Amino acid sequence: MSKYNVAIVGATGAVGEELARVLEDLDFPVGELLPLASARSAGGQIEFKGKQCRIEELTETVFDGRDIDIAFFSAGGSISAKYAKHAVDAGAVVIDNTSHFRMDPNVPLVVPEVNPEDIALWREAGIIANPNCSTIQMVQLLKPLHDLYGIKRVDVSTYQAASGAGKEGMEELVREMEAFFKFKLDEYKPEAFAHQIALNVIPHIDVPQPNGYTKEEMKMIDETNKIMHSDFAVSATCVRVPVLRSHSESITITFGDDVTVDADKSREVLENFENVVVMDDIENNIYPMPITSTDTDLTYVGRIRKDLFSDNILHIWGVADQIRVGAATNSIRIAQKWIEQQEA
Ligand code: A2P
Repeated sequence: MSKYNVAIVGATGAVGEELARVLEDLDFPVGELLPLASARSAGGQIEFKGKQCRIEELTETVFDGRDIDIAFFSAGGSISAKYAKHAVDAGAVVIDNTSHFRMDPNVPLVVPEVNPEDIALWREAGIIANPNCSTIQMVQLLKPLHDLYGIKRVDVSTYQAASGAGKEGMEELVREMEAFFKFKLDEYKPEAFAHQIALNVIPHIDVPQPNGYTKEEMKMIDETNKIMHSDFAVSATCVRVPVLRSHSESITITFGDDVTVDADKSREVLENFENVVVMDDIENNIYPMPITSTDTDLTYVGRIRKDLFSDNILHIWGVADQIRVGAATNSIRIAQKWIEQQEA
């Protein structure tokens, strides 16, 4: 198999560090690895496959003459906006983990289990966008159910981990917990979140929009239909909870008016879907939780039950590791499919 030279932009961040780990775990055919970050981190090292790799500063010319095949970007939307084109001009395909290019009609937005065929559009801009973390784990559960019954509407409430706000968010949760045990929580001033996150839940993620929703909620709404090539209604309420790195979602799915949902059949199609695991036996306390999914590459689903009042409504509970399934692993699965398509 050919080897591919890989750059990670944001290599010192929560997702960037995980990208290096998942490349190793999935035995990705890496030739050279180029870790990039800000000038603050340049000169430091990251370990990859037992070897030290020197972190370099991201600049407009850093990709030139380096023969990078795949550049993963995970350093924020403004960095992708400024630097992705330089990686593309130097001959790389960019797999972008930020929201910057996601709704661009020339950029495919891909969850490999759901719409791998869209990867072929990568040549338009040289970029493939990795969706929002909450969207990825939700569409992995919606896709087999949509194929089975046809979705009319989705209502989702999320329980999102601190990792969605990067290392800073995770560190803030840990520091607040430490302050709580020292009886000093009231002296702690939140920075990563608008309010204290320890022992609290915050019904506000990302920037408020004029329509009363937040940007995170609008990402779930808009991205879902782009990925699934659908036009069903979606409503989202995104909530930050004091969990380190796995997001949970309570999802209510309304199918067409003539559908009578069968929970067992729904369970079966979810069980047969790639990278989805059903854990659904509440009598024996079996259902997925953040501690189930953390550090795994799987999306878990449980509490699968038919609505008590409407035949065409199903309720499910989904959980996945935000840094892996919601970011690093999805990006690397995109790269694997991209390679398959190049080598076909
Ligand atoms: P650095 O550590 O040098 O600041 P997280 O999402 O966990 O907060 O991580 C953000 C990532 O984005 C880090 O790797 C960070 O590098 C990187 N980053 C932030 N600003 C820049 C920049 N101006 N140029 C390159 N990388 C950046």
